[in-house]
Amino acid sequence: MPRTSPPLPPSRTPGRYRIALVCLGNICRSPMAHVVLESRLADAGLHDRVEVASSGTGGWHVGNPMDSRAAATLTAAAYDPTRHRARQYDATWPEAYDLVLVMDEANLTDVGGRADRVRLFRDFDPVDPGGEVPDPYYGGPDGFEEVLAMVERTSDAIVTALSGAVEASSGGQA
Ligand code: 4NP
Repeated sequence: MPRTSPPLPPSRTPGRYRIALVCLGNICRSPMAHVVLESRLADAGLHDRVEVASSGTGGWHVGNPMDSRAAATLTAAAYDPTRHRARQYDATWPEAYDLVLVMDEANLTDVGGRADRVRLFRDFDPVDPGGEVPDPYYGGPDGFEEVLAMVERTSDAIVTALSGAVEASSGGQA
């Protein structure tokens, strides 16, 4: 039975929310989550009030498009992967964003551990919360399908939580 998502940290800007998604290379998991979350926000009419960004803790792929297997998985599911360009995470991100969500425990270590505004993405997974989004980079196509399924259901839960957070921070005048 799906569970309720944990509360989001409050917005720093009334009526708006800034959320960052972080993995290792910013070419597979966090870009997939970025595209799916933005799509779900658009469906919910929240795209003007919620800003999404993504980055990788490593800098090897900065400026590159998404991994071709990640892009193909998104395209097959009717998402647009073409606008992504990889960025690198730095220590200013938890100050710049209301919430930083990382994909696995290694990412969590790399960004300095859990904090009020730093959590695992799958803390919001409504089916199996608290786990990692496994790195599909060295595996086969099934790994990308598994990532997409986790990202879709978790993004739905995040959008539900965000709609409450944005309305609460605008005094119900969203
Ligand atoms: P991501 O996957 O963290 O989901 O983007 C990876 C991408 C690249 C590498 C490792 C993981 N790499 O070692 O280059």
